[in-house]
Amino acid sequence: MGLLDQIDKNKLPRHIAVIMDGNGRWAKEKGKLRVFGHQNGVLAVRDTVEGAVEAGIEFLTLYAFSTENWNRPKLEVMALMELLVATINKETKTLMDNDVRLNAIGDLSQLPDRCYKQLQEAINKTANNKRCTLTLALSYSSRWEIVEAAKKLGRQIQEGRLNPDDINDQVFSGALCTADMPDPELMIRTSGEHRISNYLLWQLAYAELYFTQKLWPDFRREDLFEAILDFQKRERRFGMTSEQIK
Ligand code: IPE
Ligand code: IPE
Ligand code: MG
Repeated sequence: MGLLDQIDKNKLPRHIAVIMDGNGRWAKEKGKLRVFGHQNGVLAVRDTVEGAVEAGIEFLTLYAFSTENWNRPKLEVMALMELLVATINKETKTLMDNDVRLNAIGDLSQLPDRCYKQLQEAINKTANNKRCTLTLALSYSSRWEIVEAAKKLGRQIQEGRLNPDDINDQVFSGALCTADMPDPELMIRTSGEHRISNYLLWQLAYAELYFTQKLWPDFRREDLFEAILDFQKRERRFGMTSEQIK
C-alpha cells in the first residue's frame, strides 16, 4: 500500500506550514552556487503542492523568504526575486490545473515592482479556485506580523471602534495576516535545523512539529505523506491528560 493510501482522510491536518530550508547546502554538496539550490527548490514546491492537493490538505503555507533574508548577499536576494517572478509566471498553470488558490503574507511592499505585480496577477487569476489555498510567506516574519497587528488594533481603539477589554485570542488572530485561515496543525522543517526562524509564532502555538534531514530540493510528495502519517500517530492533548482525550 502506498503512503498516500495509508493516510487517514478523517484525521487530516487542515493546514500545513513548511519551512523550506537547505537549498544552499544542497547546491554546495554538488559544488554549485547557492542559486542552483534555489532553482531546484522550485521542483520540490511543485511536487509538494500537488501532493497536498492529492492528500486533501486545505491550506498549505510555505516560508519562501523571511524579513531576515533581506540581509543575504545582494546577488542572492536579486536571484531569488527573479526566480520568484519566473516561477509564479510558469506555475500559474499548475495552480489552475490543481484548483489551487494563491495567497501571500508578509511585507509585500518590500518586493520589487515586477515581483509584486506578477504575484498579484497570479493571486487574482487563481482567486476562485477552491481545492487548496497555497500561501507564500514572502518578506515575512512573525514579529513583523504581530507588531503590525498591534498597530492595527491600536488604531481601532484610537478611532473608538474597539474597546481594549474586548481584545482576546480571537480578535488578535483576526488582526494577523492569517485571519481567514485555521492555525497550522503541522509544521514541517527540512534540512535538519530545529528552529522556527520567526515563522508563524502565534499560529504555531499548538502545532505538531516535524523535522526531516532532507534538504528542500530533495523533498517530494512522499516526504509530505510521511510527515502527515507521523502527525496522525501523535496524541494532541492541548494541556489535558491522555485519559481526557480518550
Ligand atoms: C532555504 O534555503 C531558502 C531560503 C531561505 C530562501 P537556504 O538558502 O536557507 O539554504 P541553506 O540553509 O543555506 O542550506
Ligand atoms: C528560514 O530559513 C526562512 C525560509 C525558509 C524562507 P533560513 O535559512 O533563513 O533560517 P535560519 O537563518 O537558518 O534560521
Ligand atoms: Mg537556511
